[in-house]
Amino acid sequence: NSSVYILGIESSCDDTSAAVLCNGKVLSNVVANQEIHAAYGGVVPELASRAHQQNIIPVVQQAIQRANIDKKQLNAIAFTRGPGLMGSLLVGTSFAKSFAQGLNIPLIGVNHMQGHILAHFIDDENQQKPTFPFLCLTISGGHTQIVKVNDYFDMEILGETLDDAVGEAFDKSGKILGLPYPAGPYIDKYAKQGNPKAFTFTKPKVGKLEFSFSGLKTGILRFIQKNTKGNPNFIEENLNDICASIQYTIVQILLEKLKNAVKLTGIKQIAIAGGVSANSEIRKMIKDGEQKYGWTTYIPKFEYTTDNAAMIGVSGYLSYQQGTYSKIDVKATARLKV
Ligand code: KG4
Ligand code: ZN
Repeated sequence: NSSVYILGIESSCDDTSAAVLCNGKVLSNVVANQEIHAAYGGVVPELASRAHQQNIIPVVQQAIQRANIDKKQLNAIAFTRGPGLMGSLLVGTSFAKSFAQGLNIPLIGVNHMQGHILAHFIDDENQQKPTFPFLCLTISGGHTQIVKVNDYFDMEILGETLDDAVGEAFDKSGKILGLPYPAGPYIDKYAKQGNPKAFTFTKPKVGKLEFSFSGLKTGILRFIQKNTKGNPNFIEENLNDICASIQYTIVQILLEKLKNAVKLTGIKQIAIAGGVSANSEIRKMIKDGEQKYGWTTYIPKFEYTTDNAAMIGVSGYLSYQQGTYSKIDVKATARLKV
């Protein structure tokens, strides 16, 4: 039997997700979002662990059911072992270990950030698999990196953020504007009706491949404080333009760094990954690079951008093919490098 069935489990932050893949093709990908955090304007770790604990078994059961297989057909279980919130990681890790023991099949620990990148290797007619080496702009709620990907599990970070991640820049700016958490998708939506040149925000002065977003957040806060003093309705009246201008600034920063990385490495194969790669302007900016700079670009299918277990499942599948498994005493690790 040449079919390899992998169960992927993702529980690093606030989404509980399980997916079943057959030979790298997604049969099911169930994501339970935790609505509870919206009211707090950010993820509350303690509440996240509790919700994972409650959701994990129903989510896994649903994934297996939707894949229309019997759990006895599974060849291995892949789970996120880090980076992420420790309490959240422990739920997925403990569950994956027990289930793998019960079924007597191998266990494969996956690095969440590698998972975001390896989502490009999911077998799906709506996305193309990159060839090595390629550069990946990995942008999420917790990370902002330019990664040189030499092979599936051979990745080098060329540059990363010195402070906030891009996702945090979106979320914290949105919080200042009174938008719900996570604000990224809202800013994306309002920006569509706005003028990106309406307001200017200063870009950080850091190294060629480094990022910094904490200054932008402070700049936006000052800008809002100053303008609402004279006009309490300033945000309401200008929401679309403010969102478009913030997003434009972020897109320009990302583009500049990517261009620097292409120049330094000579690599013109460009991919994006992570939750923020769901952003419509960032996707467009990357795609435009084909015409403007002669790049070959890889843009993941929308549902494989924000946290999902399909990306963990495909990473597990690639590990499985190489015969690389984890030991049963593998530890969840909150800080884990690519
Ligand atoms: O990868 P992800 O789901 O979780 C982490 O590993 O952090 O990324 C979540 C981040 C959040 O900051 C969210 O606001 C952002 O991705 N995000 C977006 C969009 N969709 C999600 N940011 C900008 N535009 C979007 N459309
Ligand atoms: Zn993520």
